Amino acid sequence: MCGIIGYIGKKEANRILISGLERLEYRGYDSAGVAIIDDNNNNENNDNKINTNKVKGRVENLKCKNIPGMIGIAHTRWATHGRPSDANAHPFVDKTQDFAIVHNGIIENYLELKEELRKEGVSFTSDTDSEVIVHLIARNYSNNIKEAVIKTVKKLQGAYAFCVIKNDKKEIIGARNGSPLIVGVGEEENFLASDVSAVVEYTKKVIYLGDFQIAEVKNDSLNIYDFNGDEKEIEIKTIDWNLELAQKDGYKHFMLKEIFEQPKVIEDTLKVKMDIKKDFSKIIMVACGTASYAGLVGKYLIEKIAKIPVTYEIASEFRYREPLIDENDLVIAISQSGETADTLAAIRLAKEKGAKTLGLINVVDSTIAREVDDVLYTRAGPEIGVASTKAFISQLILIYKLAFKLAGKEFYFDLNKFKETLSLNEKLKELAKKYFLYQNFLYIGRNTSFPLALEGALKLKEISYIHAEAYPAGELKHGPIALVSEDMPTLAICPMDEVYLKTFSNIEEIKARDGKVISIATEGDQKIKEISDDIIYVPKVEEIFYPLLITIPLQLFAYHIADLKECDIDKPRNLAKSVTVE
Ligand code: M6R
Repeated sequence: MCGIIGYIGKKEANRILISGLERLEYRGYDSAGVAIIDDNNNNENNDNKINTNKVKGRVENLKCKNIPGMIGIAHTRWATHGRPSDANAHPFVDKTQDFAIVHNGIIENYLELKEELRKEGVSFTSDTDSEVIVHLIARNYSNNIKEAVIKTVKKLQGAYAFCVIKNDKKEIIGARNGSPLIVGVGEEENFLASDVSAVVEYTKKVIYLGDFQIAEVKNDSLNIYDFNGDEKEIEIKTIDWNLELAQKDGYKHFMLKEIFEQPKVIEDTLKVKMDIKKDFSKIIMVACGTASYAGLVGKYLIEKIAKIPVTYEIASEFRYREPLIDENDLVIAISQSGETADTLAAIRLAKEKGAKTLGLINVVDSTIAREVDDVLYTRAGPEIGVASTKAFISQLILIYKLAFKLAGKEFYFDLNKFKETLSLNEKLKELAKKYFLYQNFLYIGRNTSFPLALEGALKLKEISYIHAEAYPAGELKHGPIALVSEDMPTLAICPMDEVYLKTFSNIEEIKARDGKVISIATEGDQKIKEISDDIIYVPKVEEIFYPLLITIPLQLFAYHIADLKECDIDKPRNLAKSVTVE
């Protein structure tokens, strides 16, 4: 993953780079760094220095040092190769310290390249895969950075977006293959960045670099080339982004703000126009994490409502199998970021096999959105919290709309019931006080409540670091029930639906073994109260709409537990918002 940014212009680069990094921190926050050319030194030899400031930990740690200069690059890291440390923080410089680079992605053949460079006398200062790039560029340089980059990319295997500067050149070169990179086009200043959020404060004009492209960026000009050095046409897009959406508005965390934004998100996503032809025989849902659980809800819903066969695939598995798909299939990729490496690769594989592709994507013009045959945008707005909440609900809404559309039926959902469910917040805060010290949880559900159990358990794991396992309720007796004890509570999702009595019996089985049960049930269900230690009621709605309501207590339960444990909710350890490496 990682976030990268470059600035060239007439302003001090340090402040711009650090504020850009703060917006990119969702991509990783293990270490951060900047490298800036000190161009005040206008001597005859033009031998300016590159100064760096890099530290383990958060971007804010960079703020205590100011580096002068108007051309620079910066990085916020999600560690892949080499643990988080000052030495493994980017930017990396070559031995002459004339070149500096920042990199997002993975160089798969770095060990081989390292060996080759070592034989030529290069010594390495980090354990990363990225450092080879700067040494290769220095080796390949003869007065033109772009040419050195073209030679270098021929040696690299893997996915990357990188930026490079040289001490005596007034330009930044960026290269992209597999990891995102945009150019922000300003007035007498230009930017390179992993995404538009980093530059939107300064410009709304952007160029989305394609794979195998190189950007040569100066303060008053820019050119794009392919990896053969041939110049490409430039297409500048104007983005419709609003920075205010990325503020906390008085909420303690972005996650809580985003949970409470969901009614508006539903309202906006309901307005999405859908014009889909039923010219396929089956649907394959591909996605990762929370988005994949939306896909699994989709399988249950589309099969039930539209009677079309749907398979559900985790993108990282799908891409390395030999899936039996062809031109009669529709592959639907679900992704908030639109940049998830495995989901992108799954879509590319589907296209290779001739399948039609559709994206349910949140970030407009993201890589997946641009590569699929058709895209439907979820209207969740920028989601900052690493734990996905409002994006999930917007994905569900598009899936409902799709199921109804394919069935030729009208879709109507009463938003008031959803708003009512949000008023459970205080109750969940109280409930969290009772449960936040447990180390393990089971989550169970049947039918559409099973993917919700997966999603609820994922939320708890990722923000509170509590171990939580989710199972279809009917699977318990095939093994997991051995885990049940008074130390491992179960969160049972048991609304009044067609499998109510089945899940009810599973709860009884847990109680018979001294397990504690928190039930999420339908308002008015007195029977379930008798067998539950705690109960959360959601309003009564038509059966198929329970997933929308039940999502709320799952999100709030995880949130309040993590808050009581004083966890870093918006930036949980080891995670990043956008997973652009496989
Ligand atoms: O951007 P995407 O929707 O493709 O991301 C997929 C997953 O990485 C994401 O949903 C992840 O599981 C979240 N952290 C879950 O809250």
